[in-house]
Amino acid sequence: MAISFDRAADFYDQTRALPPEVADQVTECILRLSRATPETTFFEPGIGTGRIALPLVERGYAYTGVDISEQMMDKLRQKLVGKPHQLTLINADITTLPLESGVFDVAIAAHILHLVADWRSALAEIQRVLKPQGVLIYFHHPGSGATRNDPIDQQWRTILERYSYQADFVGAVTEDVLGYFQAQNLAIETVSVAELPRIRTAAEALQTYCDRIYSNLWQIPEPIFTPAIEDLKTWVQQTYPDLNERFESSYEVTVTAASRAR
Ligand SMILES: C[S@@+](CC[C@H](N)C(=O)[O-])C[C@H]1O[C@@H](n2cnc3c(N)ncnc32)[C@H](O)[C@@H]1O
Repeated sequence: MAISFDRAADFYDQTRALPPEVADQVTECILRLSRATPETTFFEPGIGTGRIALPLVERGYAYTGVDISEQMMDKLRQKLVGKPHQLTLINADITTLPLESGVFDVAIAAHILHLVADWRSALAEIQRVLKPQGVLIYFHHPGSGATRNDPIDQQWRTILERYSYQADFVGAVTEDVLGYFQAQNLAIETVSVAELPRIRTAAEALQTYCDRIYSNLWQIPEPIFTPAIEDLKTWVQQTYPDLNERFESSYEVTVTAASRAR
C-alpha cells in the first residue's frame, strides 16, 4: 500500500526544509549533473511540497511532478500563486505513471523510493519516461539504523527491537538503488552535496517521536507504539536530566546521477 503524505502536509516544510545555503548547493548540483540548458525538462516522482522542485521551477525550468498526496501538492501550488511557471502536477502512483515514454531529460528521485514497496516498478517507470540519454538523479537514503548519528534515534531503534518490531523501510535504500543501477550497467557519478547539521534540544527531539512527525513512525501498531514511546520518554529523561540541553546530529546529502553511457 502506498504511503501518502497527506497527514504531513501541514508540518512537512517546518520539519524537513533544507537551510537556504544547502538548498542552493542541491540546486546547483542538480543543474551540473544534468548538464542543464534552458530547455532541459525535469520530472520528479513523489514531488511533495516542492522542497527540491521549487528552486528549479522558480528558475523557469519545465517541471512535471507526480504525487499521491493532493494536500502535499496543494502546498506547492500555494507557493506559486501569482508567479509565472512551467510546473505540471499530476495525482498518480509512481509505479504506474500516466505519462508518455521518453519525454523528460532529467528525473529526480528524492526521499521517495524508501517509501515504495514496489520500487523496482517505480524505477522502471522513471526510466521509461526519461529520454534515452536522460539522467536520473537519486538522493541517497541509508537504511534503518544508519540514518544519522543521533543517540535518541539509535535508542528508539533499540526499544523497537525489544518489542520485536522491524523498523526497516518498505522500499529501497541506497544500496538497493545503487545495486539496481549497477545491474542495469548505467554510468554513475556520486556527489556528496552537503552536510546537514541538526541542532535541537532533547525535549524537541523527543516530541518529534510523540507527534509521529516522521513517516517511519506512522506504520507502527498502537500496541507497540504506546509502550515504546513511554520507554523512550523514560530513557530521554534519565539520559538528559536537562531536557533543554542542545545536541547535534547530522545527515549527509549525497546524490548519484545515473544515465546510459553517452
Ligand atoms: C518524503 S516526501 C518527499 C517529497 C520531495 N521529493 C522532497 O524531497 O521533499 C515523499 C512524497 O512521496 C509521495 N509518495 C509516496 N509514495 C508514493 C507513490 N507510490 N506514488 C506517488 N507518490 C508517492 C508522498 O505523498 C510524499 O509527498
